[in-house]
Amino acid sequence: MTSNYNNIASFYDFLSKMVFGNAIINAQRFLVEAIPAKSTVLIVGGGTGWILEEIAKVHSEGLEIAYVEPSEKMVSMSEKRNAGFNEVIFINKTIEEVEFPNHFDIVITPFLFDNFSSITSNQVFQKIDGCLVPDGMWLFVDLQPIKKGVLWQHMLLKLMYLFFKLVCQIEANSLHDTTVLFHQYKYKLISSRTFFKNFICSSVYKKCHGCTE
Ligand SMILES: C[S@@+](CC[C@H](N)C(=O)[O-])C[C@H]1O[C@@H](n2cnc3c(N)ncnc32)[C@H](O)[C@@H]1O
Repeated sequence: MTSNYNNIASFYDFLSKMVFGNAIINAQRFLVEAIPAKSTVLIVGGGTGWILEEIAKVHSEGLEIAYVEPSEKMVSMSEKRNAGFNEVIFINKTIEEVEFPNHFDIVITPFLFDNFSSITSNQVFQKIDGCLVPDGMWLFVDLQPIKKGVLWQHMLLKLMYLFFKLVCQIEANSLHDTTVLFHQYKYKLISSRTFFKNFICSSVYKKCHGCTE
């Protein structure tokens, strides 16, 4: 089942700021800092595209970016963003539907996996892994599975899933532990930082199966 963020695209960023303040932006700024100059970058589920402007603040030119986003409203908002002199190709599809002729140095998945059931997470993970060069980096940010006893996070998460199920028809009912997948696929954690009282975690992973180190 594919989610549909069209209904929410025009007020998505406002809503996210209302709930999380600057945490969503800061969590992605942390990842953007890890992008090397002149790399090829795959962004999956970029939303309204403000991340392109954050990337342009760090690299105003020299990047080749493929931007995969299934919501046409999100894509049309993203196309209006100032991506500097970086080359951006917008692909209005789900990542499952896209076949790339090349591999990317960097992939970014910002709040993508919290949309998926564990079965879809496994499939999408495998697909994205196949898009990365052997020692490429995966810049991952998502909500973290909650430790017992943190009541406000439980409540907020429940509300969010209820809302996104109703409005965007997302398939997930709960968060999954994606660290297991990174471990299974032999990724190495290079750095990570948490935001919003540990509710959000940004991680820089290096693909290490067959890597040159
Ligand atoms: C929770 S929003 C996050 C948006 C943005 N990354 C942000 O942080 O503001 C998830 C985004 O992933 C996109 N998405 C959902 N399923 C997808 C899929 N299978 N392939 C690519 N993108 C997907 C949605 O359309 C939506 O824009």
